[in-house]
Amino acid sequence: MKEKTLFLPGPTPVPPQVLRAMSAPLIGHRNKNFSALFERVQEGLRYVFQTENEVITYPAAGTGAMEAAIVNLLSPGDRILVAVMGAFGERFVDIATAFGAEVETIEVQWGQAPDPEIIAERLRADKNGRIKAVFVTHNETSTGVTLDLKGVAAAVASHPALLVVDAVSSLGGIELRMDEWEIDVVVTGSQKALMLPPGLSFCAVGPKAWEAVEKARMPKFYWDFRSYRKSAQRGQTPYTPAVSLWFGLAEALEMIQNEGLEAIQQRHNVMGRMTRAGAKALGLKLLAAEDVASDTVTAVVAPEGIAPSDIRRIMMERYGMELAGGQKQLKDTVFRIGHLGYVTPPDVLTCLAALECTLAELDFPVELGAAVQAARQEFI
Ligand SMILES: Cc1ncc(COP(=O)(O)O)c(C=O)c1O
Repeated sequence: MKEKTLFLPGPTPVPPQVLRAMSAPLIGHRNKNFSALFERVQEGLRYVFQTENEVITYPAAGTGAMEAAIVNLLSPGDRILVAVMGAFGERFVDIATAFGAEVETIEVQWGQAPDPEIIAERLRADKNGRIKAVFVTHNETSTGVTLDLKGVAAAVASHPALLVVDAVSSLGGIELRMDEWEIDVVVTGSQKALMLPPGLSFCAVGPKAWEAVEKARMPKFYWDFRSYRKSAQRGQTPYTPAVSLWFGLAEALEMIQNEGLEAIQQRHNVMGRMTRAGAKALGLKLLAAEDVASDTVTAVVAPEGIAPSDIRRIMMERYGMELAGGQKQLKDTVFRIGHLGYVTPPDVLTCLAALECTLAELDFPVELGAAVQAARQEFI
């Protein structure tokens, strides 16, 4: 039987040329071959992050890089502001709390995004400049909502606080200009729009953040940005890198550079519109309003009386397509379709066709072809 197709918001499909690159024989990580790879990867990463800053690569899940951002920038007792719009905003709160930060939150209903003006207002009220950093999720994977990051960055610019962005499910697929928008730290992971297996995560660190690093007293060793910066000067990492993943990373970055960020983001925008139009044409509701809907992941509300787990089971068993479930309080309400990374509009058409068949099998009244037709309109 053919392997399953991933329509998850991570891990995402890995291109065959990346898989091939990762099967190359290993090289030592303390020699000049690795340093050459390191330089090539740095250049590609700088392009994807749209930055001239240092990008640190950890052999870790995205959560590791989130923790790294916190422990490298803060001291216990520091006050931070976290915009929470779903499960991954909550994760920033949990990590920062675990390390003794004082956490203020701005919370919105899941499925919505905070208006940058609310963040600006909260920062204006902080007359003594107690808030050391603002943490936001660019693309909330649990809800399929994208934040107006450019607007948030402008709101934070008039306050001394650092801006830290979780771009795990956006970077590459959704526009993010680290230097132009003056973002201090951007965090991402390998298993999303970067088209790699899980296992690498990244922190791009700007000059204002490096100043904060010198004062930060939260405990750390493995995550210490300074060790990575020091080793980077000789084209190395302080501890053993995930060399095979780096081979894949170099290949994936080359693919991204060849296609071009703008074209990639346009492709993701089309896929997001197709998915939403298709789901709506089947009479399904979306969790996110159109103006904040994500180009990389769509949370679809399961119809009354049908469990999202049944939809996912049939999609998987009969059609060989893996969709994601809802997280936390959305567990029994939504299923999520990931359309990011090595995915194309024709793949989305196929997924929607299978979704129509799945719903028909579950006796939900659908007009077969309706989703495909609606999605096609967005693909023309
Ligand atoms: C927005 C966002 N942040 C953080 C994470 C955490 O990444 P990981 O599961 O690799 O730790 C994820 C994972 O899906 C995510 O989507």
